[in-house]
Amino acid sequence: VKVPITRTVFDRNDRLAVQRPLRDGWVSQGRYVRRFEGSVARFTGARNAVAVSSGTAGLHLALAALDLPGDAEVVVPAFSWVATAGVVEHRGARPIFCDIDLETFNLDPAALEAAITRRTRAILPVHLFGWPADLDAILSIARRKRLHVVEDAACALGTYYRARHVGTFGDLGVLSFHPRKAVTTGEGGMVLARQRRVARVIQSLRNHGADGPGDTWLPDHGRLGYNYRMTDLQGALGVSQMRKLPWVLARRARLAARYRALLAGLDWLALPPTSERRSVHGHQSFVCLFRPRTPALGNVERLHRRRNRLMLRLKRAGIATRQGTHAIHALGYYRRTYGLRPRDFPSAWIADRLSIALPLYPHMTDAEQDHVVRQLERSYPA
Ligand SMILES: Cc1ncc(COP(=O)(O)O)c(C=O)c1O
Repeated sequence: VKVPITRTVFDRNDRLAVQRPLRDGWVSQGRYVRRFEGSVARFTGARNAVAVSSGTAGLHLALAALDLPGDAEVVVPAFSWVATAGVVEHRGARPIFCDIDLETFNLDPAALEAAITRRTRAILPVHLFGWPADLDAILSIARRKRLHVVEDAACALGTYYRARHVGTFGDLGVLSFHPRKAVTTGEGGMVLARQRRVARVIQSLRNHGADGPGDTWLPDHGRLGYNYRMTDLQGALGVSQMRKLPWVLARRARLAARYRALLAGLDWLALPPTSERRSVHGHQSFVCLFRPRTPALGNVERLHRRRNRLMLRLKRAGIATRQGTHAIHALGYYRRTYGLRPRDFPSAWIADRLSIALPLYPHMTDAEQDHVVRQLERSYPA
């Protein structure tokens, strides 16, 4: 049995959907992108949704819309996909890394408070792997310190905090439609904006900073913008994928619950947080922590070698696993630019070294999942 880390779900409706723009002859941003925006806005309850070419492009524009001064600092979690910090750099601001809570892999509010200086202008919390960040704490700090909040909800379609969809709490929120996400358009992203005025700025920025649509006469370009438009091929696929979303999320939740029951006996593996009544895990991926003993900077390299042995054994058994994501501050560019060392953010570094994502995708069968669990039990590296 071969079990991949993930598998996209494309059916006949998706295949028919992408043919529609081809038949119409209009394939750049058009009515299917608008429909997709409407569908995501309805699902999330966002007042405004603006589709863009990727989640990264969306985060870049969200920060651009905030008009940060040149010396601005933006606080980002040290454990996230590299794009979370990259967009801050691209805006000429400075990413200030902040350690995470190892139980949730999300921003630790106490560390966040300590990371804020008088140059801080925004916080970029991530709802990593589909689990909501501690928004009560983060929003309260933001209010007190008068900071913007841009939610990196790239992994979080189907994630709820206090019964409300994430990405709608901050000034802006950003979703991704990369193939490892619940809904995919190949590449793609969506900016959720609370204010109509801000959504208009995002619409302008994704289209070279144009002040309005052009036809015979071109509009003025009052802003310096980008070409971050989504194509109608992607928009049509997005609309069709959104129809499957409730099923996709239900399947993911069921498989995650099943993993949890089957893996409960493995005391060396810490499992992801469980959905509560009002906080719902979207289960973009099922990321565990290899923890045969309490991890610390002193033993993390030894445990890391054992985790890697475990992952290699699983690979030989046909099971794909992945490191959850990386400690951004420990990546070459950030180490060099800011003179950072891995141990500067201990929990982020431990998560980098010891996390392990297990296969999870809607069409995963119970037999495939049982195989993963059995091999995990057998592969424990003593
Ligand atoms: C936390 C996080 N932020 C940002 C991104 C960037 O999204 P995209 O790949 O659509 O550019 C991703 C992932 O893909 C992500 O996981």
